[in-house]
This record gives sequence, structure tokens and C-alpha cells, in this order.
Amino acid sequence: MAALRIAIANQKGGTGKTTLAVNLAAGLHRRGATVLLDADPQGSAGHWSRVGGAGNDMPPIESLDGTDVDAAIGRAAQAKRYVLVDCPPHLQSDRLRRVMGAVDLILIPVQPSPLDLWASVDMAAAIREAQAPNKGLRAYMVLNQLDSRNALSRSMHEALDEFDLPALGNGLSRRAAFRSAALEGASVYGLGRRAAGAVQDVEAIIKEILNP
Ligand SMILES: Nc1ncnc2c1ncn2[C@@H]1O[C@H](COP(=O)(O)OP(=O)(O)O)[C@@H](O)[C@H]1O
Ligand SMILES: [Mg+2]
Repeated sequence: MAALRIAIANQKGGTGKTTLAVNLAAGLHRRGATVLLDADPQGSAGHWSRVGGAGNDMPPIESLDGTDVDAAIGRAAQAKRYVLVDCPPHLQSDRLRRVMGAVDLILIPVQPSPLDLWASVDMAAAIREAQAPNKGLRAYMVLNQLDSRNALSRSMHEALDEFDLPALGNGLSRRAAFRSAALEGASVYGLGRRAAGAVQDVEAIIKEILNP
């Protein structure tokens, strides 16, 4: 079976790329052999492999150096069922273009505010460009740091409607477990019952992307 190759990207920093990449990788790793490629030179995904939390449930994390990132993704896809790529927070790089040319799916975490959404408008344009040569490329926004007490504001719904890229129906709530997991070098799957809600968030996203 061909590997599913997923890039997590947004040129804006701090939107939850690494959080989503690490936890999706952990959830997919429970389903099939997975590798997380860290394409961010300021790589924070690599932090996980260095911290190496207790009872580590993490798939291997490899840093994606050099410019030949598309070849590296191709090699990983030969050996694994799921290949995830945590992308650098800028658009101007040749690396990001190459990554977008070498994956099946791009997930773009955004905070649930219209301003944050519009800050990602250049991403939408870059993805359209990547879709010209990479015909099967799918791309979705993923709402992150949702506040479960509040429904999305009406202005956020309006902004989502106007935006060129579809959003997944499931997102990540703002939860302490996502921060704790990062501190402990684990994923939310490794935290036990205190992270049950966070695991549910990640599982819902996985089900949605595996059964579109
Ligand atoms: N759903 C969430 N709930 C709580 N904290 C979160 C959540 N998503 C991200 N964070 C925190 O927000 C900060 C930025 O997230 P990060 O994944 O590092 O973003 P990026 O990789 O896009 O720069 C981190 O401190 C992270 O722990
Ligand atoms: Mg990051």
C-alpha cells in the first residue's frame, strides 16, 4: 500500500504546527509505521526526540536537512505507511515548495480568529500553485486552540466561508494536555487519562483525514 504523506504547514509561527504534527504522528503510529520529518531548521519537533519522554509512544523523528527534501520524503514513503512533515514557518523557501510537491495532504493549523485566518491567505495561494503540478494534493485548515465553551464567532464563520481552502470539521481544543505533552517529550497518547479529551480531538482529525 502506498504511504500517505502529510505536511503540516503555515507561514505564521505559533499556530500549532508542531503540536498537530507530533500528536497526529503518534496517533497514526498506532495504526501503521510512521515517521515524523522535521523540516523546520529551528526544529521543535526534534525537541521531542531529545527529551524522549518516559514510556515513549512516539514514532521516530528525523530532521530533514539539506534541500533534497522531496527525495527524502520519497525515501521515507518507501519504508513507512504514514510520513508526516513539520514545515518551517515561512513561505519564501524552496524547501516548502518542494515539500508541497511531494505530499498528498497539507494541513494548515489556524487559530479561530478571522485575523489569524487572513494571515494565512498567502498559504492558500502557495497551495494553489503547488496543486498545478501535484494534481492530487488535498489541503485543509485545521482550527486549533478552540475554546470549547464558545462556538465559533459569526465573523469566523464568515471568514471561513470566504476563504479559498476548506476546513476540517474537527479541530483541536485549547487544552493543558497539549502543553504538558510537549514539556514531557510525549504525545497526548502517552499521558493517560488526564489527556483523554486531547486524544479524542486527535482521533477525530485522524478519522476525518483517513475517511474523507
Ligand atoms: N490546542 C492547544 N492547546 C494548548 N496549547 C497549545 C495548543 N496548540 C498549541 N499550543 C501551544 O501553543 C504554542 C505554539 O504551538 P506550536 O505547535 O509550537 O506552534 P508552531 O509549531 O506553529 O510554531 C506551544 O506552546 C504549544 O504548546
Ligand atoms: Mg513548530
